[in-house]
Amino acid sequence: MAIIIKTEKEIEALREGGKRLGTILQKVAQKVAPGVSTMELNDYAEKLIREGGDEPAFLNYKPYGASSPYPASLCVSVNNEIVHGIPKKNHILKEGDVVSIDLGLKHKGTFTDHALTVPVGKISKSAEKLLSVCQEALAAGIFEARAGNRIGDISFAIESVIKPHKYGIVRELAGHGVGREIHEDPYVPNFGKKGTGAVLQKGMVIAIEPMINEGGKDVVLASDDWTFKTKDGTKSAHFEHTILITDGEPEILTQS
Ligand code: MF3
Ligand code: CO
Repeated sequence: MAIIIKTEKEIEALREGGKRLGTILQKVAQKVAPGVSTMELNDYAEKLIREGGDEPAFLNYKPYGASSPYPASLCVSVNNEIVHGIPKKNHILKEGDVVSIDLGLKHKGTFTDHALTVPVGKISKSAEKLLSVCQEALAAGIFEARAGNRIGDISFAIESVIKPHKYGIVRELAGHGVGREIHEDPYVPNFGKKGTGAVLQKGMVIAIEPMINEGGKDVVLASDDWTFKTKDGTKSAHFEHTILITDGEPEILTQS
């Protein structure tokens, strides 16, 4: 499938939706604390989205090949869970955990996608490092998201930040085009070669989302058929923004 160039009207809706999503995810992040359940975070996120007149994009979403629709609005992935963790009433966050919160929002028919990994209370120095490197990798990827550059330039920039730290880069999952659907072309891997892949053009919208593990790169899919976990049980981090390709600087849509 070809990469969609968004219309001016779609871009206006994506800007507004992205801004709302950025604001909401910040609010959800502020709720993260020891003693809070992952389901409370989900319910709060969903409430904020609906109050704005928008829809949670992940609820009942069934990607091609998935065996069941995703059953919640927010993906909540704790410690060794990488992404797509399903929120639960009896999963209570505790001091020292790291929690990835990943949320999609549908505004006026357009989709934006955004994730953060946040500390629960005080976390170890090594976990702090994991989070900051992942954030730095996302920033490096975003910097390359410009008209005329290629997808591989983004992938290479992300990998270059992570490599010296010897963290495992998740291979099975990647960034993606976004806007008319939650997942569109192109596929945006978190490792790769400069100067390869599709050429970026003004009006394309992509989600960039590095996922890195403290240990090895290998993942396992849990028996719920959704939650990706690290194979070796080490902690994982995940940050994601939805980006508009412009004639000039990359425009981060998912921030307040
Ligand atoms: N941000 C997630 C991704 O790009 C979207 C998850 S959709 C869900 O993979 F259905 F799994 F929640
Ligand atoms: Co995504």
